[in-house]
Amino acid sequence: MNAITACLRARALTAWLVLLVCILKSVDAQSLIVPGALWYDTDGNEIQAHGTGILTVGSTFYWFGEDKANNNYLFSAVSCYSSTDLVNWARHNDALTPLAGTNISTSDIVERPKVIYNEKNEEYVMWFHSDNSDYGLAMVGVATADTPCGPYSYRGSFNPLGAQSRDESIFQDAARTAYLLYASDNNQDFKIARLDSNYYNVTEVVSEMTGATLEAPGMLKRDGVYWLLASHTSGWAPNPNKYFYATNISGNWSSQADIAPEDTDTYSSQNAYDLPLGSDAIYMGDRWDSNLLGNSRYAWYPLSWSTGDPQIVYADLWTVDYEAGTYSVATGTTYPAVNGTLGGSSELLGSNYTYNGYEGVGYLGNGGTLTMTIDGIGAEQWVSLYYANADSSWRNTTISVNGGSNVVVGQANTGGVHAILSVPVQLYLKPGSNTIIIGANQTDYAGDMYQVVVYTET
Ligand SMILES: *[C@@H]1O[C@H](CO)[C@@H](O)[C@H](O)[C@H]1NC(C)=O
Ligand SMILES: *[C@@H]1O[C@H](CO)[C@@H](O)[C@H](O)[C@H]1NC(C)=O
Ligand SMILES: *[C@@H]1O[C@H](CO)[C@@H](O)[C@H](O)[C@H]1NC(C)=O
Ligand SMILES: *[C@@H]1O[C@H](CO)[C@@H](O)[C@H](O)[C@H]1NC(C)=O
Ligand SMILES: *[C@@H]1O[C@H](CO)[C@@H](O)[C@H](O)[C@H]1NC(C)=O
Ligand SMILES: *[C@@H]1O[C@H](CO)[C@@H](O)[C@H](O)[C@H]1NC(C)=O
Ligand SMILES: *[C@@H]1O[C@H](CO)[C@@H](O)[C@H](O)[C@H]1NC(C)=O
Ligand SMILES: *[C@@H]1O[C@H](CO)[C@@H](O)[C@H](O)[C@H]1NC(C)=O
Repeated sequence: MNAITACLRARALTAWLVLLVCILKSVDAQSLIVPGALWYDTDGNEIQAHGTGILTVGSTFYWFGEDKANNNYLFSAVSCYSSTDLVNWARHNDALTPLAGTNISTSDIVERPKVIYNEKNEEYVMWFHSDNSDYGLAMVGVATADTPCGPYSYRGSFNPLGAQSRDESIFQDAARTAYLLYASDNNQDFKIARLDSNYYNVTEVVSEMTGATLEAPGMLKRDGVYWLLASHTSGWAPNPNKYFYATNISGNWSSQADIAPEDTDTYSSQNAYDLPLGSDAIYMGDRWDSNLLGNSRYAWYPLSWSTGDPQIVYADLWTVDYEAGTYSVATGTTYPAVNGTLGGSSELLGSNYTYNGYEGVGYLGNGGTLTMTIDGIGAEQWVSLYYANADSSWRNTTISVNGGSNVVVGQANTGGVHAILSVPVQLYLKPGSNTIIIGANQTDYAGDMYQVVVYTET
């Protein structure tokens, strides 16, 4: 989060003197990546760039995505942000905006924008999933610009080589060769097709995974090996995303394997883009909120090959040094929920419901509360709530510190009663002991709580 914004948001809770000190102390840029939290740009506005595509130009990263601020799945804009550190993002003009009377009007679909640079034409080329409102046209769209953020000129939408294309990505290989990766034939067959030398069209399918039912593709090349990442098809709901590898982009592809423990549904996320980081990578996923699309979160995690296969490194907070190709995961202090005081209708969940050896607390909200004592350092600190939400949609929980106002924290569905996910929230903790109350003053049920982890990184 932008530090000044954090201060302004804290204004209602803290005295003006604290606010002043906070602003004076926080002119530093942010350094933490906080998956699942609300992310703000350098102007303090929520980042709206779902279905991520990243373009690297020199030492600058450009982040393209779907602006879903209006909580609608129809096209409003492809946003464009830039950053030199992958953490602090400045918003620019929109890269692509609706055009009435075309297939990218406000009643159409534009998803998963990906931009690559065409050296031959000295031109930036954007590819995206282009569709009508019932996903029946299943096309790709292409647009071009002379500068990274454009605005881009729309060239048109079409079915590549006459076949359907829904979720897609673009992979640029060495030797100016690029490929379209796409879910085709009613999302049954997954295809890879080579682009023409202008990057305006595809020329031939080089690989087809018949019956693979893949979506949300991304590709990385590492020591001459191609790694394809993709989800399966379950709408906005998360599923266990997979990897495949091959020494030739035409295959043969390995059989599929998980990039995260299967029961976490890829930590409640779906792949959108995968950015190389040294000998590892950054997994950039979406944690969709299907009832409130603009509230969907960015689930970016290190993707490590330390065990030989790409695996997501779960982290509440982490830092990245792109030039060095390294990342570092923060560690905090863990407070088990079972050690708190249960109030009202909340209940211990029993020995079948544990995480890290500690029992969970359920029936929070709707009269149930959990009061816990946690230590602070006198700063806006990240407090991560480990919970389970077996519903098919998000829940909310409230959290109040030292009798202060209730902060509402969104809890994405976790896929089951035993699937635990964490959501970090930034709260002012005074030095020493603090009392937090979870689930108070809400009529709806919150997720089951397992633990709270408090961090001193700010
Ligand atoms: C959208 O694309 C379809 C399929 O190519 C075409 O039939 C239709 O005319 C296009 N609509 C507009 C408004 O251009
Ligand atoms: C793309 O190439 C195919 C096959 O050569 C051709 O039929 C089609 O018209 C081209 N589409 C566009 C948009 O250029
Ligand atoms: C990759 O496979 C294709 C299709 O089998 C083949 O034509 C091509 O030569 C292979 N490339 C390399 C580098 O082996
Ligand atoms: C790919 O697999 C097919 C079917 O098993 C086999 O016929 C073909 O030789 C394989 N190709 C390569 C390059 O290994
Ligand atoms: C939680 O409570 C148990 C039992 O009272 C105690 O042994 C343990 O130290 C407590 N853990 C923490 C992290 O407070
Ligand atoms: C725990 O789960 C097992 C297996 O489903 C079940 O047999 C047992 O009764 C459960 N125990 C409790 C305390 O609910
Ligand atoms: C959670 O809270 C937000 C903000 O207060 C609200 O917009 C949203 O509808 C709530 N979601 C649920 C599932 O109650
Ligand atoms: C909010 O919840 C707290 C803790 O349960 C309770 O003391 C307080 O009276 C509640 N406030 C309101 C306005 O209901």
